[in-house]
Amino acid sequence: MKFPQAAPPLRIARFREDVERAIASVLGGSSYILGQAVAEFETAFAERIGLAHGLGVASGTDALMLALRGLGIGLGDEVIAPALTFAGTAQAILQCGALPRLVDVDPVTRCIDPAAAAAAIGPRTAAILPVHLFGHPADMPALMGIAERHGLAVVEDCAQSHGAHLDGMPLGSFGHAAAFSFYPTKNLGCVGDGGAILTRDGALAERLRTLRQYGFSGPERVCGGLGFNSRLDEIQAAILLALLPHLEAGNAERRSIAARYRESLSLPGLTLPPDAPGSTYHQFAVTHPERDRLMRHLARAGIGTAVHYAPGLHRHPAFQEAASGPLPVTDALATTLLSLPIQPELAAEAPEAVADALRSFAPEV
Ligand SMILES: Cc1ncc(COP(=O)(O)O)c(C=O)c1O
Repeated sequence: MKFPQAAPPLRIARFREDVERAIASVLGGSSYILGQAVAEFETAFAERIGLAHGLGVASGTDALMLALRGLGIGLGDEVIAPALTFAGTAQAILQCGALPRLVDVDPVTRCIDPAAAAAAIGPRTAAILPVHLFGHPADMPALMGIAERHGLAVVEDCAQSHGAHLDGMPLGSFGHAAAFSFYPTKNLGCVGDGGAILTRDGALAERLRTLRQYGFSGPERVCGGLGFNSRLDEIQAAILLALLPHLEAGNAERRSIAARYRESLSLPGLTLPPDAPGSTYHQFAVTHPERDRLMRHLARAGIGTAVHYAPGLHRHPAFQEAASGPLPVTDALATTLLSLPIQPELAAEAPEAVADALRSFAPEV
């Protein structure tokens, strides 16, 4: 494949010296669990995004689950989330003992539809979990208005939106807590699993520190209640610290590749993602009615693509009880969405290659 859809090792190769130095510093250090690298990364990442408190945890899914638990979400509660997202979003809700209530997305932003979220609120609703899908901002002002009127908690799923913003406000700073994933393909990714929770609420941060480590409170390590072993490890934290200074430039490169896709792609039936200045373009996801045939055509031209996400979560056996009603927008997007290569290390020349390939694609419908 000339242009794989994603290739995390290419980013590591680009910053190889920094990454090797980071790993060596951990190997020669004095603590392998919750040591200096995790503490430094937590501070640097929270500062970079613009929030007071940061906690490194084992994954993005754990970040969501712990944030919800820290906000008191549990058995008998319902959490409203979009049906078009990665499975981890809804698994985190189940892991709290709560039930996901999956609602439709907006056809343009592909993020949770605020009107659908408002319509799904019932007596058990405790929180809303918007996902900034593909790095595009969900409509946070509308969602926060709804949450405030109904006294609901809001946890932002920022797994795909590191460094994104909306009207000058960083994504992750609207809700009560924000969950990030550092899975290798993410805009800020490590070489294994990793995640973080950011919040401006100091009391919540303290509860989360306890929850992520066996329920320990204080230096005596007494268990005050339920706890988990969910810690970002030192090697991943050191690598993330080395990559963090390159996040902004990487996001800018993605925006410029996205702009070139916009200039060069032309095909009847093709729709492009919405153009938001603050998007991080974690994916550049187009839609086409003949998605599967188009995928095969692009593959023959050496262009890797991926589907994010099909089917909608309400069609997975684990979540089939969770649909708030028919979800036609999610269902339509699940059959038409296609993510093109956008990772800067591999996609610099992808827009022209995709445009070329589209010229020889003859629509059948
Ligand atoms: C939107 C979204 N939510 C949650 C997650 C879960 O993160 P992780 O894989 O680190 O558990 C991911 C990524 O994988 C994601 O893309």
